[in-house]
Amino acid sequence: MSNIHTLLARRNPGHALEQAFYTDPEVFQTDLEAIHYQTWLFATAACELEKPGSYVTYNVGAYRVVIVRGADNEIRAFHNTCRHRGSVICKAAKGHAPKLVCPYHQWTYELDGSLLWARDMGPEFDPTKHGLKTVHCRELAGLVYICLAEDAPDFAAFAETVRPYLEAHDLGNAKVAFESSIVENGNWKLVWENNRECYHCGGNHPALCRTYPDDPSVTGIGEGGETPDHLQAHFDRCEAAGLPANFHLSADGQYRVARMPLKEGAESYTMDGKTAVRPWLGRVPFSDAGALLQFHYPTTWNHFLADHSILFRVTPISPTETEVTTKWLVHKDAVEGRDYDLKRLTEVWMATNDEDRRVVEDNQQGINSPAYVPGPYSPTQESGVLQFVEWYCATLATHLAPGTMAAE
Ligand code: FES
Ligand SMILES: [Fe+2]
Repeated sequence: MSNIHTLLARRNPGHALEQAFYTDPEVFQTDLEAIHYQTWLFATAACELEKPGSYVTYNVGAYRVVIVRGADNEIRAFHNTCRHRGSVICKAAKGHAPKLVCPYHQWTYELDGSLLWARDMGPEFDPTKHGLKTVHCRELAGLVYICLAEDAPDFAAFAETVRPYLEAHDLGNAKVAFESSIVENGNWKLVWENNRECYHCGGNHPALCRTYPDDPSVTGIGEGGETPDHLQAHFDRCEAAGLPANFHLSADGQYRVARMPLKEGAESYTMDGKTAVRPWLGRVPFSDAGALLQFHYPTTWNHFLADHSILFRVTPISPTETEVTTKWLVHKDAVEGRDYDLKRLTEVWMATNDEDRRVVEDNQQGINSPAYVPGPYSPTQESGVLQFVEWYCATLATHLAPGTMAAE
């Protein structure tokens, strides 16, 4: 730990982090313990859990989690570890099961986690003491968040703030049109840092740049808290139409929502800039409302458009490997081939993700060199990166501070 204290203490403000933050297994383990094992994590879209018995599994660090819709329609999360001798229970990424049956000795759990059946365990055995261990789980306007900590931090403030923004997108009536999962050979923080600036967009994202503005005030956090006039005009127009749009960054810096304009005339992330799906997912009143941009560290950034929504999930795998999962959500009544063309819907972000994978991997490769020296961030272009890094360092420092670890 002392090593990480030293690294944090000698950080050069306004500069990238030192090599160890992106390569050292001890830092990686501390990241998991201080951040991913403590806070709320976006896990899946509620629409993927279509009916009672639908489940998805999600692995975070050493934890194995299963998220399942119960017979009462409630979504719950459990540690995917059998209460007998510990086998993983649900092995598929997603599926449907009337009960959760362990593959090892067939202990059988109800969808609410209670143990229903265990063979030959003797008269003393108490099944009520061997239900699945629960993981905190919340559904927020169609997004499912989990928290692995024993005592979860507050979720209500985040939920109350972003729910009005999300409700306009009606994710309860969504379906996943397409899902992609890639592994980027880069530290999870490099994936985030790259996401939090568009300094790299012009040179790397020809498809995205057809519609996404290369405007630092759209991606970053602005300077001095001032909202530029062109953004405020867009927010005002949306808000006047009943569509929450104003920029909101949480006091602790963990999440932000803002409905940002796309380029002049652009409606959605397509090659021609026009919408890709009918019927639209949500109740956005006009096609040029732009994209509701939401991020919630450390696992998700999202783009909610007039016609469809795109959910991204970032999962650390090792010091230099990160999984990025992308889901394109459309209205559940939209039929592929009739109401949307899958290639047209997904091609911009499929290309963008691959371009981002390449720049993140190049970044990691260069950082791995003994010659790497953290360089300065651009004050105009990289305010979002700095904001992420400040949040990361503050979260780590709080976790490592004497006396606070038990309280978390
Ligand atoms: S480990 Fe699950 S039934 Fe034995
Ligand atoms: Fe990018």
